[in-house]
Amino acid sequence: MPFPHGDVENLIRETADAIRGAALVVVASGAGMSRESGIPTFRDALSGLWASYDPEDLATEPAFRRNPARVFGWYAWRRRLVRAALPHPGYAALVELEGRVPEVLVVTQNVDGLHRRAGSRRVLELHGSLEQFFCLDARHPFPAAAVPEPVADGELAPPACDRCGSPIRPGVVWFGEMLPERVVAEAWEAAARCQVMLVVGTSGLVHPAAELPRIARDAGARVIEVNPEPSEVSAWADVVVRGTAAAVLPRVVAALKGEALKG
Ligand code: OAD
Repeated sequence: MPFPHGDVENLIRETADAIRGAALVVVASGAGMSRESGIPTFRDALSGLWASYDPEDLATEPAFRRNPARVFGWYAWRRRLVRAALPHPGYAALVELEGRVPEVLVVTQNVDGLHRRAGSRRVLELHGSLEQFFCLDARHPFPAAAVPEPVADGELAPPACDRCGSPIRPGVVWFGEMLPERVVAEAWEAAARCQVMLVVGTSGLVHPAAELPRIARDAGARVIEVNPEPSEVSAWADVVVRGTAAAVLPRVVAALKGEALKG
């Protein structure tokens, strides 16, 4: 994405300067972080077979109870999509940040596991993960290796829990469900303690994740947004870098290293 020279470069330098002095940087990422790895954002139109469904009709417990094979099949499709995706250079930039800032914590709304796959060492998954599974009635953990792989896009009957027999569901947070308590406690504590929060690729529409940047700001942190489009955060963030994750994050790290901004 060609940068309009001048303002974006200055904003990238300003971001690097803020990070340089920080003891803790929290990266709050959303679906936009994975867009350049080929994974559609949550609100992108669902493609192919699933185009006729609204995610909110699939990502709920009632939807799973009504038609477990359809919901389980949809997540199997997303898992296949995600496994084929490669973390783009923006992910590697966040990993490199860990060697330049005393403490870096990634708090993501994404369930695709790309931050971990890229090598980020501290990742909190607020909305769970496509690679985790537990049973519907008692949340007995179920090994991902034992989950059937789809042979084609479409419905896929979930396995049954080997302890209680109830159907196995994806370990993601569905609409109307609570976020994992321990993850929330750790994320909220870090947001209130960080000096910089980098908000990357989120519309800031979904709560409670959307509260994190406000907690950081109210605790005196610099809130810096990386997003090619305006979001709920843009109106009050300290710095808004109008660019994409894969284009901006490597340049922030280059500026942090005092390297000339290339390209
Ligand atoms: P959204 O789809 O709501 O927002 C994606 C954001 O990423 C938008 O603000 C885009 O402008 C921005 N974006 C798009 N391409 C980008 C790029 N290349 N680089 C940086 N930003 C880019 O996704 P989220 O805000 O993550 O919740 O949505 C949050 C939650 O909505 C999801 O986690 C899911 C859904 O309800 C659950 O599943 C519980």
